[in-house]
Amino acid sequence: MTLVEATTLSPQQRGIVRAIYEDAFPDELQAPFDDLFVDRMLVLLDEDGPAGFALVRDLAETPWTFLRYYAVGRRGRGTGSAMWREVTDRLAAEGRTRLVWDVEDPDEAGLSPELVDEHRRRIVFYERLGGRLHPVRDYLPPHDDGHAPQLLLMDAPLADEPEPPLRSLVETVYLRRYGVPPGHAVVRRTLLASNLI
Ligand SMILES: CC(C)(COP(=O)(O)OP(=O)(O)OC[C@H]1O[C@@H](n2cnc3c(N)ncnc32)[C@H](O)[C@@H]1OP(=O)(O)O)[C@@H](O)C(=O)NCCC(=O)NCCS
Repeated sequence: MTLVEATTLSPQQRGIVRAIYEDAFPDELQAPFDDLFVDRMLVLLDEDGPAGFALVRDLAETPWTFLRYYAVGRRGRGTGSAMWREVTDRLAAEGRTRLVWDVEDPDEAGLSPELVDEHRRRIVFYERLGGRLHPVRDYLPPHDDGHAPQLLLMDAPLADEPEPPLRSLVETVYLRRYGVPPGHAVVRRTLLASNLI
């Protein structure tokens, strides 16, 4: 198994990654596939070709990286866990100190039992790999297509660095991932609900 940059893929391999992406996420969470390439896409290749991908974005002026999408083609066979080690090793070797990402909140009102279960399993998947779920409430970053799903914030340290205050993690993600400045009402709402101010 190797991890490669998506820029090195053939058109046929890129088509397989596109199919993995479109199969993995519901329409309302999908940006158009071609738009993903504003960010860095790392693709896991195995003997059958592309097996999964991670879409990452370094958060400007920090040593932290945001994980925007993470998906594999064949689930439940260890591929997601193996790719995690490849991706985090690569980023750590490049000097990145923390991976940060959003997950959908299983406690969002009105979710079907199936979705509650899927969101929970996803959090367990990340926790098993060293991810930590932060006690952040009313975290509603504006999504690229304008809607705002109820999210939770996770991270995983990639190096020995002092733990940042949770408020700084929240403000940095709002600003550097979503372009929302610290004083904005959406950020204040999250900080207040999370007892961080
Ligand atoms: C989440 C995901 C990357 C895990 O990869 P994987 O190769 O299936 O995972 P592994 O085989 O290494 O580990 C299995 C664990 O992954 C999680 N998992 C497996 N299938 C899953 C699914 N369909 N949905 C959510 N989590 C799943 C569970 O925690 C599972 O453990 P369990 O069987 O004891 O519940 C993969 O299921 C996937 O691509 N899901 C769709 C996209 C997605 O949800 N991405 C994450 C949000 S950006």
